[in-house]
Amino acid sequence: MTQDEAKALVGQRAAELVEDGMAVGLGTGSTSTMFIKALGTRVKAGLKIRCVASSDASHHLGVSLGMQVVTLAELPELDVYIDGADEVGPELALIKGGGGALLREKIVASAAKKFIVVVDSTKVVPVLGRFPLPVEVVKMALPLVERRLSELGLRPKLRRHSDGALYLTDENNYILDCACGEIPEPEKTAAEIRGIVGVVEHGLFLKMATVALVAGEEGVTELRA
Ligand code: A5P
Repeated sequence: MTQDEAKALVGQRAAELVEDGMAVGLGTGSTSTMFIKALGTRVKAGLKIRCVASSDASHHLGVSLGMQVVTLAELPELDVYIDGADEVGPELALIKGGGGALLREKIVASAAKKFIVVVDSTKVVPVLGRFPLPVEVVKMALPLVERRLSELGLRPKLRRHSDGALYLTDENNYILDCACGEIPEPEKTAAEIRGIVGVVEHGLFLKMATVALVAGEEGVTELRA
């Protein structure tokens, strides 16, 4: 099974878990795109749901598929949030934000009763940190935050597009990707980063995910915290 096939399989499985009448949070990224497309097919077939998206891209995708996508102000409590992850570690600790949507993702996830992570099996790791940890930063604070993250040994690098232009999030902030290596104590690292003035959010999602659906050669398996 290719990675894309695994993403499609787990996206489809997650879409099957959504029930009529639910308020659903839509994640962001390639796996979430598979999920949203599968959910769109169910909506076209008559499923009645309302959704809140975690990025402009997922918002537009949902709307293009005929889904009712509203704001968090209109729908502040969600039954479920379904999203991918860059890494899934022990106790369903996650690194997210490879697609740059970590801030809105964390906000929408925190509004949901249940957070289902959808990944292919390459994302499951014994210790977080192989994937660079994204940190979203207010523009003005960039030099300060960059220095503080370096002092913490987190090796930040400003995210740019392939043409060299600076990457901006949906909230118009910068992202520093921290190639820090293994993160043995995610709670401690999260607290250290959060303590830096000018940091808007970081990509460690701790004690948030309820269940992970993992697609691999043996089909879809479940991991619980
Ligand atoms: C988006 O900002 C991210 O948090 C994604 O959920 C994460 O990068 C996983 O993306 P893929 O499903 O594209 O691997």
